[in-house]
Amino acid sequence: MKITIRLIVSLLLVAAGVAFVFTYLQVQSEREILLREFDARAGVVGESLEESIAGYFRANAMDRLRRFVDRFGRKAQLIGVAVYDSQGTLLVASRTLSGRLPSTPDQVWECITRSQPVSELIGNTDSAHVAAFPVEVEGRLMGAIFLYQDASYIDARLDAIWRSNFIRLLAQTFLIIVTTIIVVRWSITGPIAQITQWMRGLRTGKSPQLMVVPRGDILAPLTTEVTLMAKSLSQARASAREKARVRVEGESLWTSGRLREHVHVELGGRGLYIVSNREPYMHMNQGSSVECIMPAGGLVTALDPILRSCGGLWIAHGSGTADRETVDERGCIAVPPNEPRYTLRRIFLSKEEEEGYYYGFSNEGIWPLCHITHTRPVFSLNSWIEYQRVNEKFADALLEEIHKEESPLVLIQDYHFALLPLLIKAKRPDARVAIFWHIPWPNPEVFGICPWKQELLFGLLSADLIGFHTQFHCNNFLETVDRFLESKVNWDNFSVERHGQLTLVRPFPISVAPPAVVESKDEITIDASDRKRDILKKLGITSQWLLVGVDRIDYTKGILERFRAIQRFLEKYPEYQGKLTFVELGAPSRTHIKRYHDLMGELEETVDRINWPLQTKNWKPIVFLKAHHTHDIISQFYQAADICMVTSLHDGMNLVAKEFVASRKDMKGVLILSQFAGAAQELRDALVVNPYDVEEMADSIHQALTMNPKEVQERMERLSAVVKERNVYRWAANIVTTLARVRIPKATAAVEQ
Ligand code: G6P
Repeated sequence: MKITIRLIVSLLLVAAGVAFVFTYLQVQSEREILLREFDARAGVVGESLEESIAGYFRANAMDRLRRFVDRFGRKAQLIGVAVYDSQGTLLVASRTLSGRLPSTPDQVWECITRSQPVSELIGNTDSAHVAAFPVEVEGRLMGAIFLYQDASYIDARLDAIWRSNFIRLLAQTFLIIVTTIIVVRWSITGPIAQITQWMRGLRTGKSPQLMVVPRGDILAPLTTEVTLMAKSLSQARASAREKARVRVEGESLWTSGRLREHVHVELGGRGLYIVSNREPYMHMNQGSSVECIMPAGGLVTALDPILRSCGGLWIAHGSGTADRETVDERGCIAVPPNEPRYTLRRIFLSKEEEEGYYYGFSNEGIWPLCHITHTRPVFSLNSWIEYQRVNEKFADALLEEIHKEESPLVLIQDYHFALLPLLIKAKRPDARVAIFWHIPWPNPEVFGICPWKQELLFGLLSADLIGFHTQFHCNNFLETVDRFLESKVNWDNFSVERHGQLTLVRPFPISVAPPAVVESKDEITIDASDRKRDILKKLGITSQWLLVGVDRIDYTKGILERFRAIQRFLEKYPEYQGKLTFVELGAPSRTHIKRYHDLMGELEETVDRINWPLQTKNWKPIVFLKAHHTHDIISQFYQAADICMVTSLHDGMNLVAKEFVASRKDMKGVLILSQFAGAAQELRDALVVNPYDVEEMADSIHQALTMNPKEVQERMERLSAVVKERNVYRWAANIVTTLARVRIPKATAAVEQ
């Protein structure tokens, strides 16, 4: 039996059963009420008759009694009256009763015997109400009065109740059937049909991202699980394809699987530990629920795939509003939440610590110091003290984690932890410590303004390996060391020797996971122009060309310069007015710092100033979407855009440029890239611009829009080949290999007990 019929039949049986029981109880109670009414009326009539009839008995006037009884028997609803003597012998009866009376009714016998009124409802159809009352003269029982009333009214009332409840049941039944069919279709059979189709799609190798996710909250948990399964399946397929390809390509390509194997061999059973300020997964309170987000920023984008692939432990600042509630007593949580692959240990900071270490020393001091964007660094003693304190706090947590581990590999990330290598090595000289500096390193003159430059350099030079994105930053670092510290800088092999510690300084250009392999054009089922149409429709914009920028809102990213370039382009090439829209996906960042807060206002004001004179009902030059956008949303924009603009004023690498390339499986789209981003060293087929030169940027937009499609495709193919080959797995493999093979002096290679 189909589920719908089964549901309907069960609901009907239950509804009918409930209706029957309730109607039966209602009928019983109504019957009793009506009976009581009859009893009361019979009582009143009996009492009024008793006196007159006793008088006739006293006077022995039977003829008068008969006439009286006849007359009385014609009253409304009263079928008749009869009078019996004390022996139960009928004395008189109204004519209307002739043929209805048994010899002596039971009620009369009972009344005479007990000398009490007796009443009852008799008959199944055409019910009648009968009542007998004793007649006493001077305390002596003389006989009984028998009243016979028409009670068919009770039957009619009770029938009406059954009838009306039956009609109600019919109406309910109809509504139940209709509602059940709609609900079952909408929430169960419809979604199941979708899931079936969806799973068939999966089985036949369609990409899960391109299929419509089945609706229906009943099936939501199942959908989530199946989605994950689908992802794993397609990852497994992709990795199998990748493996085959790697074999064919002479094992030149780094994949997640290859990295896993490689790290396994290099670590030889030792653990892999990552320390960064920003955590890869943040739990945030959203109203009454908790949401897990991946913060914006290149560091997280690059490192998460590595730990997913190799496992290990990641220590980071727990800065999400619901972070404390989601970890265990040690501050640990398995991540990613849906398919745990590694452990995240969160370190919680006080307001003062966060203010001094993160906002103050790291982001108002070192960040502007290392990015040449003409924002003055601010250094204060308090911030420096908090910076040291927090570095110690992270060091304690890490030392606790590696307590029992021999020669663990520790990968420290970024400018928040310049002192950490020193703190770790002081206690655990056997640990292999690398620090990767994700931002540029300035020249010695610029770095020299930091009041604690030597302390920062001491801290860094305790590491066995220091990584930068480019050779240029390595050189700046070595020159800085040469200028400010007593040490031996080996320019022939890019290393520094100081107090017996050797530190290698190497470039490792970071990247993203490689683009998924596309077997055939049919795999790209959604065309870029369809995506573009959908996106613009949602934004309420009609435009032929879509340009996109994706950034953390930071003054180093050149967002203002980009907006001005759009404005200049539309002035210079007015034929594009109404035909080109630039969408900026900007994730608010570090807004607690005045410079960032002011930048936000400045950006909004600039967008408004540019849009206002040009915008029409359905079009505007710039759409500024200021929010934390998920990877999925960003990916939709990347895949729909004609141009992606990365115009950083100074940037260590900039992974947006690489993400854009990785997402263009269709080999379309043009990348405009700042010459001051590390990525420009590798992505030579982008249109490389100077973000300070507004004319040049406007002209490159024009060049991109008028570029021959064949050239667009060829450039994108070359860019994809670079991103594919120099992917983040290769980056990780190079760092881990270099670190694992560093020579650690025997005397210091002991585990602290
Ligand atoms: C840059 C830094 C990262 C940082 C990211 C986001 O990429 O190199 O260390 O995590 O910006 O900044 P935030 O301050 O939000 O962590």
